[in-house]
Amino acid sequence: KRVILAYSGGLDTSVMVRWLTQKGYEVITYTADVGQGEELSDIPQKARSSGAVDAIVEDLKEEFAKDYCLPTLRALALYEGKYPLSASLSRPLISKKLIQYAEKFGADYIAHGSTGKGNDQVRFEVSAWALNPNIEVIAPVREWEFRSREEEVEYAIKHQIPVKITKEKPYSIDKNLWGVSIECGPIEDLLEEPPEDAFEWTVSPKKAPDQEEYVEITFEEGTPVAVNGKRYELISQLILDLNAIGGMHGVGRIDMVENRLVGIKSREVYEAPGATLLYTAYRELLSLTTDRFTFHYFLGHIPHEYAKLVYEGLWFSPLREALDAFVFTVAKCVTGSIKLKLYKGSIAVVSRSSPNSLYVEELATYSERDTFDHKAGAGFTKVFGLPLKTLARVKKSSC
Ligand code: ARG
Ligand code: SIN
Repeated sequence: KRVILAYSGGLDTSVMVRWLTQKGYEVITYTADVGQGEELSDIPQKARSSGAVDAIVEDLKEEFAKDYCLPTLRALALYEGKYPLSASLSRPLISKKLIQYAEKFGADYIAHGSTGKGNDQVRFEVSAWALNPNIEVIAPVREWEFRSREEEVEYAIKHQIPVKITKEKPYSIDKNLWGVSIECGPIEDLLEEPPEDAFEWTVSPKKAPDQEEYVEITFEEGTPVAVNGKRYELISQLILDLNAIGGMHGVGRIDMVENRLVGIKSREVYEAPGATLLYTAYRELLSLTTDRFTFHYFLGHIPHEYAKLVYEGLWFSPLREALDAFVFTVAKCVTGSIKLKLYKGSIAVVSRSSPNSLYVEELATYSERDTFDHKAGAGFTKVFGLPLKTLARVKKSSC
C-alpha cells in the first residue's frame, strides 16, 4: 500500500508519516513551494527521518501565480466580499500534483493534514476525485487518536521523529504568495482585536512610514506585467515584490467571520498585501476599459460566483472553465497603468491611464470643450422615467 502525503514538515504531517507507516503504508511525501517563504531544503531529510521512503519537493510558485491566482484576480473574486482565497487556491494545485505523483509511483492513496471541520479537506478531496475518481484519500487528523499537540509531541518523541520543541505561536497558519491565513488561539475570541504577533507580512499601520509611497501597476490584457515601470518575467516575483511593498505600509490586513462549507462561522485573519494592491488596481482599470453593460454584468455575476466555487473546492469543474472563458474575454481589454498611493494601511487610486480607456474628456467635461448633446437629455429622461410616472398616475397606493 503506497500513499503520497501532502507534507509541510510541521509537527502534524511529520507525525502523520510515522502514523501511516505504522498502519502499513509506504509513504512518499510531497511538498510544494507555493511562495510560503520557508526554507524547504531540509524537508527531504526530515521526511525520511520520520519514516518516508521518498520525498518530493517542487517549486510551483509560477504555476500557482499564473494559473490559479491570476484568473481569480481577473474575476475580482473575494469570498464574502473580503477574502482573496489564498489558501483555497493552493489546494487544487497541490491535489493535482498528488494525483500526478500517485499515478507515476503507482500509489492508490493520497493523504493530507486537514481536519474534519475545515474547508481544506473538501478542496483537497473534491479536486483529487475530479482528476482521478479512483483515488483513495486518507485524512489522518480526522481519525487518529491524538487530541492535543502535547499528545502528538509525545508520540513524536517516542518514535524518534525530529520535532523542534520551540515555543509555538498559538496560531494555525497557512501561507503562500497570495496571502497568509491565520486562525486559532486568541483569534477565536470575537471581542478581541487580533494581537500584533499574529501578523507576519504586514506592519501595523501605526508603525508604517510617515511618508506615503506611490506604486504604479501596469497590466497587459489582464496580466500584471510591471511595477513602477520595471517589467517582470515572472508573475510570482511581481506578486512577491508587491507583498513586500504593501506589507511595509500595513495594507492588506483582513479580519472576518466567514461561513465555512461545513456549516460553521469561523473568525479568520488574513494578510494579502500584494493581492490587495492588485485587486484595487485591476478593478479600477477594468472599470475604465469596459463598457457599462459588460462592467455591470461582470460585477453582478462574476466575483461572488467565482469566489464561491474556489472556496468550495470546485476548481476542476466545468463551471470554472465556463466562467474563466467569460472572464478571459473581458480581461482582453484590461491594458494600462494604475497608480496607487499607500499610506499607513490605506490605498488610494491616484492616477489611471489606458490605451483602451473609454473615458472621453470632451463628453465628460463641463467646460466649453463639451460636446455632449444636452438637448437629447430631455427626451431620454422623459422616456427613462416613464414607468414610475405611469405608476404614480395609475395607482393611488403601492399594491
Ligand atoms: N479559512 C480559510 C480558507 O478556508 C483559510 C484556511 C487556512 N488553512 C489552514 N490550514 N490554516 O480558505
Ligand atoms: C483545517 O481545518 O484543516 C484548516 C481550516 C480549513 O480547512 O478551513
